[in-house]
Amino acid sequence: MKVQGSAIELTDFSGDGLAIGLFDNQLELSGDIANLDGALSGLIKEVIADAEFKGKLGSTVTTRVAGGRFKKLILVGLGKADQLKLDHIRRAAATIAKTARREKCKTLGISLPTGNLEASNLAQAITEGVELALYKDLRFKSEKDENGKIDTIALIGLVGQEAAIETAQKICSGIFLTRELVAAPANYVTPITMAEMAQDLAKTYGMELTILEQEDCEKLGMGAFLGVAQASDIPPKFIHLVYKPTGTPRKKVAIVGKGLTFDSGGLNLKVGAASIEMMKTDMGGAGATFGAAKAIGELKPDVEVHFISAVTENMVSGKAIHPGDILTASNGKTIEINNTDAEGRLTLADALVYTEKLGVEAIVDLATLTGACVIALGNDIAGLWSPNDDLANGLLAASETAGEKLWRMPMEESYFDSMKSPLADMKNTGARAGGAISAAVFLKQFVKDTPWAHLDVAGPVWADKENGYNGVGATGYGVRLLVNWVMS
Ligand code: BES
Ligand code: MN
Ligand code: ZN
Repeated sequence: MKVQGSAIELTDFSGDGLAIGLFDNQLELSGDIANLDGALSGLIKEVIADAEFKGKLGSTVTTRVAGGRFKKLILVGLGKADQLKLDHIRRAAATIAKTARREKCKTLGISLPTGNLEASNLAQAITEGVELALYKDLRFKSEKDENGKIDTIALIGLVGQEAAIETAQKICSGIFLTRELVAAPANYVTPITMAEMAQDLAKTYGMELTILEQEDCEKLGMGAFLGVAQASDIPPKFIHLVYKPTGTPRKKVAIVGKGLTFDSGGLNLKVGAASIEMMKTDMGGAGATFGAAKAIGELKPDVEVHFISAVTENMVSGKAIHPGDILTASNGKTIEINNTDAEGRLTLADALVYTEKLGVEAIVDLATLTGACVIALGNDIAGLWSPNDDLANGLLAASETAGEKLWRMPMEESYFDSMKSPLADMKNTGARAGGAISAAVFLKQFVKDTPWAHLDVAGPVWADKENGYNGVGATGYGVRLLVNWVMS
């Protein structure tokens, strides 16, 4: 699919479909749209009246145009002009794209008002919305139904925005990688295939790659990570991918993702309400990390970025850690495992210790860490914990333009009390109440002085319902926000 800016007048546009965005106070047509309405003998006004179209955010109406230069007219509401956000544009573009596909438009024109936005941001957001909404995962279908493909999209009024369009497509290529990694089940995405995927990225983008095998991890004393891995028949892989810019980097940062390719819970097996089959998504943090790596490899910013994940499965077997076992992490701290299902924090503990030795300016981890975070914030919002206000605010700003919601949560150190162990330095789980907070406080034991933030992404990595540019399934959550943060 080709997306390009176009200087054409609305009245001259010809193609299969034309989509127009309208603010809710803009229904008295003016300018180009009034001209087009005139050329169509008042059809737009008629449709607006007929459908009682009010320009409300998310509303849409489609009509057939008889004997015109185009066959389908799609109107989309953008809400109030003074409340316009970039993500409203992304969503409107998604609505347009899905409608156009349903209406079999191969060539499509999109005309959205700029409002208070920069033209480049508008072009980027439209392209992202369209690309993300049209994504289909056909890898596991024996018959690839490719019907309704859109060939070209003209962004009317956005001529000269090729760079912004390309930026969007590069970011989307990263998001698609994340969606593919998260959606693929545990018999397709394993620690071994994750390492191979990192190898591909390293080769394609000229990145440095270190894969620590089990013996290497043993030498580094990664007892927490290896404890989680020990019941699996598939060897663990500790992946460290580095993007270095050509000149001197403006800053050096690290992104660490929880990489559980499957989380059975271990001997504290997931039973009852927890849907164990969804635990193929427990590498959503690593998925976002490597999706961001792909986007960064494409975008080539002047920043050094380390992408890290301790990848393994959490399984059951005669070799499994027993509840009550004591593990020693690579910083020497000892952990009494009172619940084998709190495994993500164990793998992250060793990953964070390793990462801090790299001497980066900031570390951000992403993890599908707790069901408690989903209970607290629902499926659309990730939790953010950080002892560092600058880092937290930088991530919140990145999240706003990305349209990937974050909410800062308290790093309540007193909750560590519920993780005190009579035998070891700590237990791996504390009280049920505030479980997402104690998980963050647990991780904090493994970061000394580098500015660090933890994102609990258990909710937003997967969608059960179609919503805007996210279909049912893996959302690719985190890539846009990470890219924005790295580039800031
Ligand atoms: N991977 C899960 C968290 C999770 C739950 C992600 C639901 C996505 C949806 C994590 O490893 C886990 O099992 N956490 C436990 C922690 C508990 C044992 C303290 C949980 O949230 O129940
Ligand atoms: Mn678990
Ligand atoms: Zn898990």
